[in-house]
Amino acid sequence: MLGNFKYSNPTKLYFGNESLNFLKDELKNYGKTIMLSYGSGSIKTNGIYDKVVDILKSEGKTIIEDSGVMSNPTVEKLYEGAKMAKDNAVDLILAVGGGSVIDYAKGVAASAYCETDAWKTYFLEQKDPTCKIIPVASILTMVGTGSEMNGGSVITNHKEKLKIGKVFDDRLFPKFTILNPEYTFTVPQYQMVAGFFDIMSHIMEQYFSNFDDNTTDYLAEGLMRSLIHSSLIAVKNPKDYEARSNIMWIATWALNTLLKKGKNGDWIVHMIGQAIGAHTNATHGMTLSAVSIPYYKYVIDIISNNNNKGMDKFKRFAVNVWNVKQDGKDDKQIALEGIACLEKWMNEIGLVMHSAELGVKEDMLDAIAKSTILYPTDYSSLNHNDVVEILRQSL
Ligand code: NZQ
Ligand code: ZN
Repeated sequence: MLGNFKYSNPTKLYFGNESLNFLKDELKNYGKTIMLSYGSGSIKTNGIYDKVVDILKSEGKTIIEDSGVMSNPTVEKLYEGAKMAKDNAVDLILAVGGGSVIDYAKGVAASAYCETDAWKTYFLEQKDPTCKIIPVASILTMVGTGSEMNGGSVITNHKEKLKIGKVFDDRLFPKFTILNPEYTFTVPQYQMVAGFFDIMSHIMEQYFSNFDDNTTDYLAEGLMRSLIHSSLIAVKNPKDYEARSNIMWIATWALNTLLKKGKNGDWIVHMIGQAIGAHTNATHGMTLSAVSIPYYKYVIDIISNNNNKGMDKFKRFAVNVWNVKQDGKDDKQIALEGIACLEKWMNEIGLVMHSAELGVKEDMLDAIAKSTILYPTDYSSLNHNDVVEILRQSL
């Protein structure tokens, strides 16, 4: 286990099918005015909205309604929310929804009292807030992003064709999060499996880095095995509480900073996926699934042309996560067999495997590659042309 680090996570979790009962007591810690942020209306259809509003009212809170947070929240919506939060002097932003609503709430919380332009300061320049921050809490209704227990906030600027994540410090982590697996039962199948792959990608992109023997990698393997097992049950029966609750818990641990400890991470799949998102507004998890197989094959080729430096981790992924047999095979063959197992599972749960299905066309590849933020990983150092080639193979 290499590196020097601090570990703490300020988000308090309430888990289980009765976890909403804890909202009442938590609300006592905050002032009277609550901004209730949510998406396009699924929480009204499935009844979560009414339950939350009843509790807010019974605690005597004034509710500032903030609806219409779109998937892949935009910079325009962020500005609008920041103004609303400041004008109403809100004491808490309660985000009820998936990653988009929670990411947006963090952006609003950091921007309401910010004198400078939030997009430029936080997303383009990656600076930290120096102004007053509004506390955020969340009630998660769709799993995948890990936003419920991290400082991440991803905002899309359609005009600039950029989708950029900012990882805020502890001050922007949700103060508390309510995780009720039953709330995820109504998520449409397409979104549900996209979320499953988002989780897998978060784990893989932290796993595929570093060469030392690191306990974090064993945790990652356990989470991946559990996710593969439960996802196959959930796609057949989305109301299987055991599977959905396991997946909710895996998603939270996949990206709540635990798996990052002692690790550099890769994240190039996310960088390419976000660039696709900026050009197509496609569902986040599907932008990742569409490029992952071409990306990992490309990286394995680079590794094999570089004296196999780093192949061990891909081999270990094949053996420990997918039970690939090693006899009579060389390291690259074993690594590629692991990627083939990943591909088979992805097909089985019904993911988008081609970026063309998301609206990507040959004549967009150059522009998407230009929107991709690149940096060296432990295994490779891709340039613009490499990304164009990976995108071409993903079509
Ligand atoms: O608009 P609503 O009504 O909320 O409907 C949503 C939306 O249409 C729907 N949905 C959510 N819960 C539901 C439901 N429908 C029925 N029943 C429910 N219980 O599902 C759709 C997708 O929701 P969204 O929040 O957009 O999905 P997700 O959770 O995947 O969030 C995606 C955003 O998170 C960012 C992505 O880039 C993207 O912008 N990410 C955030 C990260 C972070 N904070 O650390 C990391 C991730 O890598 C990711 O980049
Ligand atoms: Zn993601």
